[in-house]
Amino acid sequence: MTARIIDGKAFAADIRGRVAEQVVALKADHGITPGLAVVLVGEDPASQVYVRSKGRMTVEVGMNSYSHRLDAGTSQQELLALIEDLNRDPAVHGILVQLPLPDHLDESLVINAIAPEKDVDGFHISNVGRLATGQKAMVPCTPLGCLMMLRDHHGSLSGLDAVVVGRSNIVGKPMAQLLLRDSCTVTIAHSRTRDLPAVCRRADILVAAVGRPEMIPGDWVKEGATVIDVGINRIPAPERGEGKTRLVGDVDFASAVERAGAITPVPGGVGPMTIACLLANTLTACCRENGLPEPEGLTA
Ligand code: GUN
Repeated sequence: MTARIIDGKAFAADIRGRVAEQVVALKADHGITPGLAVVLVGEDPASQVYVRSKGRMTVEVGMNSYSHRLDAGTSQQELLALIEDLNRDPAVHGILVQLPLPDHLDESLVINAIAPEKDVDGFHISNVGRLATGQKAMVPCTPLGCLMMLRDHHGSLSGLDAVVVGRSNIVGKPMAQLLLRDSCTVTIAHSRTRDLPAVCRRADILVAAVGRPEMIPGDWVKEGATVIDVGINRIPAPERGEGKTRLVGDVDFASAVERAGAITPVPGGVGPMTIACLLANTLTACCRENGLPEPEGLTA
């Protein structure tokens, strides 16, 4: 079997288009413009790239973008004071603090200072608990994007065997919660899992989120399974010339594509969905804040 390639780039563009339409309607009908504040502390080059893209796409869908760049030496107190201001600001519906933070800042303390209803990353302890207990929550963007692609491909996920490889708070754990909510039988596998190949081979849905380049070969994939590759790993590519690199996922695409029923590529799979879902979450937060119906098809 050769897999259907799930086009995350096109899917994300469609989501952004639907968000943009609803932003137009919110403005026209209610005079409201959703606003997203992004806070970056320090000069981490990868974070700078992400934050720039987030700002650009926020504006492209018609929302207000508020960018706060603080220098690497910013104190915890200063950062918490900024978050307090943003929590109180009625023009700000979503707040994102780009991670990782410099070492002297306490990440959990900072994240938990964000008002849960503005926590568009879904990392606040209250949103984590709400997701786990089936209450209305803000859901982390990357797993939300994966869920949307899975629902689009399968329709119902009920009863399917799902294996999530990786147990991070940002992807693995919330992904497992979302799959459980959609009535999958869920296994979370990780570095200490015994016989990982056999565990993966059970999966109708295999989500790889470990951050290790091409660690899952095609022969760990069940024939016809859906493979969602969350990994974005940069590796040397001497075949492209000296010093060149390329992006690969956590799955060995070339062998997995021969066995899977559907698979997300890297790049162009899960990656573009993350920012699209951030914008969807900002729209959701804005609708909830104003007592309006939630945008259809853009939430978990
Ligand atoms: N750094 C890497 N991924 C993320 C993310 O999803 N949200 C935030 N805030 N920081 C990140």
